[in-house]
Amino acid sequence: MSVNVNLTEYISEKQTLIDNKITDYFRDQDIPEQLKESMLYSLQAGGKRLRPVLLFASYQVFKEDISPVVSSAVALEMIHTYSLIHDDLPAMDDDTYRRGQLTNHKVFNEATAILAGDGLLTYSFEIIARDLLLTIEQKVEVVKLLAKASGPEGMVGGQILDLEAENHGVNLEGLERVHTSKTGELLKFAISIGAYLGGASEAQISELERFSYYLGLIFQVQDDILDVTGDEEKIGKAVGSDEDNEKSTYPKLLGLQGAIDKKNEYVQCAKEALTKAQADTSILMALTDYFSQRDH
Ligand code: IPE
Ligand code: IPE
Ligand code: MG
Ligand code: MG
Ligand code: MG
Repeated sequence: MSVNVNLTEYISEKQTLIDNKITDYFRDQDIPEQLKESMLYSLQAGGKRLRPVLLFASYQVFKEDISPVVSSAVALEMIHTYSLIHDDLPAMDDDTYRRGQLTNHKVFNEATAILAGDGLLTYSFEIIARDLLLTIEQKVEVVKLLAKASGPEGMVGGQILDLEAENHGVNLEGLERVHTSKTGELLKFAISIGAYLGGASEAQISELERFSYYLGLIFQVQDDILDVTGDEEKIGKAVGSDEDNEKSTYPKLLGLQGAIDKKNEYVQCAKEALTKAQADTSILMALTDYFSQRDH
């Protein structure tokens, strides 16, 4: 991948690709109308597509043509979207807005939102199983890593730790554990599977996974910082909700400046791991700064 690719262009090109592929994957599906509408409502509600972008960037450290990883990227975005639909439900965070639009259960109803999430989760694995460009061995690896990243040891496990932390509070170590599972595992999947399918060596995969660990923390510290200093219009959800929900966050544990300092520490560690991967990781370097400075 050439060093001078403009990051904004890179991201928007990949976003368009994902948007088009999502439409393709739903075109000939015989899904009951209300369910399909609800699934597509959240899939097309303006997500930044950061996980697919990361997956593509990780793959492109090693190979140029991204067509073999498109199904993994769409599957990942579907699982991310399902996690948000369920996260916003009254039984969980009880949120009314997401990405500046009404949450799924507010537009449809709770039962439909639950089923839309279930549909996205299961359809994501069907998409991988059906892929024509991956070998059977590659598909098994994608399914294994994606299930692990989304499941009880990954995102789902992190969500329950997050709910428990709301009631009991946690220290910095506990907070990192919540975030690495709740948010970090799906980001890690993007990086690992991109590198694996791209043909990276074991040593490179391991450095890139170390990178993704820090990237997940950077993502979350910035999420917490934005909840304090962000612009509601830009982030599309209420600011100050962590404070209202008495959430343990980086700014709460370290103060705002402490959280910013911590984030910068993580950025250094992330970039160090990238350097050790000994490949052209310039896009991933640029994405690290993008994650750390994002305003929505
Ligand atoms: C938001 O993730 C939820 C968390 C995991 C903290 P993103 O900020 O990537 O969400 P969208 O898809 O762009 O809305
Ligand atoms: C959402 O975390 C993480 C997942 C859905 C896995 P949060 O509850 O902190 O995210 P927001 O603030 O609703 O986007
Ligand atoms: Mg939550
Ligand atoms: Mg939430
Ligand atoms: Mg948050």
